[in-house]
Amino acid sequence: MLVCECLDLTYEDIKRAIDEHPHELEDIFKAIEAIKESIRAGDICGCCTQDECNKVDMLLRDAVTKALRSARENLI
Ligand code: FES
Repeated sequence: MLVCECLDLTYEDIKRAIDEHPHELEDIFKAIEAIKESIRAGDICGCCTQDECNKVDMLLRDAVTKALRSARENLI
């Protein structure tokens, strides 16, 4: 599932980055910033960081939220 077209990042890339940079689900904005900084997601055209983007299957914000939830469920 494509999350950033410019960098060819998939949901799996985001999930891997979340595993490497753990954050609390409540810190979604901090987590998004950390992911953007660590893998440069959203750094080129910025479309994937907007509320709507027809270039990707899943917005960066939604991918980070889903990956955080998945990481949290794996801890329980
Ligand atoms: S689609 Fe992510 S920066 Fe362009």
